[in-house]
Order: sequence, then structure tokens, then C-alpha cells
Amino acid sequence: MFSNRTNWQLTPNALTRAIEEARTSGQNILDLTVSNPTEAGIRPDPEAVLAALASPKAMRYDPQPRGLLEARQAVCSYYRESHQVHIDPKRLLLTTSTSEAYSYVFRLLCNPGDEILVPKPSYPLFEFLADLADVKLVPYPLLYDHGWQIDFASLEKAATTQSRAVTLVHPNNPTGSYVSPTEMAALNVFSREHTLALIADEVFLDYAHDRAPRRSFITNRDTLTFTLSGISKISALPQMKLAWIAISGPPEIVEDAGARLEIIADTYLSVNAPIQLAAAVLLDQRKKIQPILLDRLRRNLAELDTQLASHPSCTRLQVDGGWYAILRVPVLEADEDLAIRLLKKGSVSIHPGHFYDFPNDGYLVLSLITEPADFREGIARLLQIVE
Ligand SMILES: Cc1ncc(COP(=O)(O)O)c(C=O)c1O
Repeated sequence: MFSNRTNWQLTPNALTRAIEEARTSGQNILDLTVSNPTEAGIRPDPEAVLAALASPKAMRYDPQPRGLLEARQAVCSYYRESHQVHIDPKRLLLTTSTSEAYSYVFRLLCNPGDEILVPKPSYPLFEFLADLADVKLVPYPLLYDHGWQIDFASLEKAATTQSRAVTLVHPNNPTGSYVSPTEMAALNVFSREHTLALIADEVFLDYAHDRAPRRSFITNRDTLTFTLSGISKISALPQMKLAWIAISGPPEIVEDAGARLEIIADTYLSVNAPIQLAAAVLLDQRKKIQPILLDRLRRNLAELDTQLASHPSCTRLQVDGGWYAILRVPVLEADEDLAIRLLKKGSVSIHPGHFYDFPNDGYLVLSLITEPADFREGIARLLQIVE
């Protein structure tokens, strides 16, 4: 009855089962995996947000495949104000989520069976997005040595005649590493040599822990580049569903890519009017939210380091941006078994590294947006159990 592409493992894994059991038994879990800001006490201004959604203009249906001009202009203002770059709204196409943006770009670039190069470790949603677009993911490793770097020798080996694009997550989830300017230049050379596009996922771009702005791929003109982002992280509003694809690169190919993407978007016209009309207000919420979140990230990271000082067998890896930190722990069991033990013995929930395709055991992923009191207590319990 069903397509092969939906032959997923539908039964929950051992960790998910353990979490469900713990919840149903009424155990109070300290959740160090929170990625939903609306569950972490981070709240954009409800009056401003809800009022913006009630524009009378939303009663008129004005189908615009690339999105309403005023919404795209609001995105341009974000880049102008936060990243000092001027972009043309013609180069933007709105989607409901970054995930939807990925699927449009995969559909634009790939025939069934074509390959997309993706960083490893990285976040697990890619697998499903690729399955749904009949695309094969080919991982290229990020190496850790006093910070994360792209392993260009392996990237070179991973490219085949079926490769269509290289995905960069800037900064990556969960490693928190940005693509450096040197790597950006090398990626342009690499993708030109192999006739590949770049897909840059910048949902966490604004969360540099040192608060120094990092360069967006949106100005990359050397290669056909699709820069994806949205308000789920920029303004901590994942429930509002507004994201975009910005196209840059050599002008002729940018025109062609835009025209084709426009037809994909026109087929669905998925972004609703109230959200588009509220885009400026929703994006403006970042000015309130980002300082709060950056403060929390810094506070939790400092707390982690303070506690780690008296637990020398565990270390944290360098993190430059984003909402997560990676803890290196002694390998005495599989990460998933450790995650279950932490849950059962300490009522602490963490993500094992293998969820993100870490090459071996001994890595735990922690959310830095967790409420600080929970984070402090959760880390204390975790370190005690791990030691
Ligand atoms: C790196 C990265 N990209 C994209 C997304 C999805 O964003 P959206 O809510 O816009 O689909 C996530 C969600 O956590 C993410 O971590």
C-alpha cells in the first residue's frame, strides 16, 4: 500500500520508550534537550505578536508565489539591520519553515537518487527531508581539533557525478561551529569544480556566543547559493511558521533558479497571509528575544564550565554559536544506554551523540536554552552519575 520512501522505523527507540515510561509514571524530568523556546520560558511580546496577526488586509487573497513584497522587504530589513547587507527582495522566496525550504531546494536541484553532501555530525531531520525528496544524503565529516573544521579531503572523496549540492549548517547543530571565511572560499572552489550548489542553513546565525556578527552566505556570489533561515530561531517563534530561501550566485543562474523555485512555491502557496503581513513585527521581536537568549546561553555555558572544573573526566567541546553544547564523557557504555541510565537514575534527559551521527560513543548533547535552575541541577545530577 505504501511507498518505499515511507518505510521508516515507526516503533519508538529504547530511549523514547524510557522517556514515555518516566513521564507516565509521574517522574519529574529535568529536560536538557529543550529545543522549543516556547517551552523554555522565552516569550516574545504576546500583545505585539497577536495584534500583528490581526491585520484586516489578511481578508484579501493575494497569491504571490515568492511571498508578499512587504514580508520579503521585512526580511531584507533584518539582513540590513542585523548583518549590514543589502539584498533585493526579488532574490527571496518565503516558505512556512526551513524544512519546507530544504524540500523546495532539493526538488529544484535533484533527480531521484541524486546526492546531497551533508555535514556529520549534524541534526537528524535531514534524513527525512531527503527521503521525502528521493534524495540520497552523503555525509562529509567535520573534524574536532581545538574546534570543528570541515574535512576537505573527505568532502572531495564524498563527491560523485550524482552530487548536486553541499549543505552547510552555519553554525552547525549541534556542534555550534561556524563555517570560517577560509572554509567559505574553499567551498566556492570545490563547488565550482564539481558544479555543485551550496545550501546554507543559517537558522542559528545570530547566536554567536561572543556576539560578534558572522558573515552570512547570503552575499556569496561565486557559486549558486541558497541561504535558508526563518523566524523559528531568529525570533524564537517556531509556531508562527515563516522562513525563506535567499538565492545568490552568478546572475544568469540565479534568475533561472528563482523562476523554477517560483513554480514550486506557486504549486503550494503555503505561506498564509496573516503571517506574511505580520512579518515585520515578528522579525522585530528578535531585538527583545536575542539578548535574552544570548544571555541564557552564556549563563548556562558558564555554569557547565564551573561544574566541569570539579569533574576532570568530562570535558565540553568548543562551541562558537547556537543553542547546544557537547559534553565528552568517558565511554563505558553506548551513549543511548547512558542516556537511559541518566533518565532512570537521575531523571535527567539528554540527547546521545549518535542521534546526530557522532562517529563514536562518549558524546552527549545538551540544550543551552534550558531554564538555568533546571540546567544547573540537571548538570549536577548528570556529572555525578557519569563519574
Ligand atoms: C539547523 C536547523 N535547521 C532548520 C531547523 C528547522 O527550522 P524550521 O522550524 O524553520 O523548520 C532546525 C530545527 O531545529 C535546525 O536545528
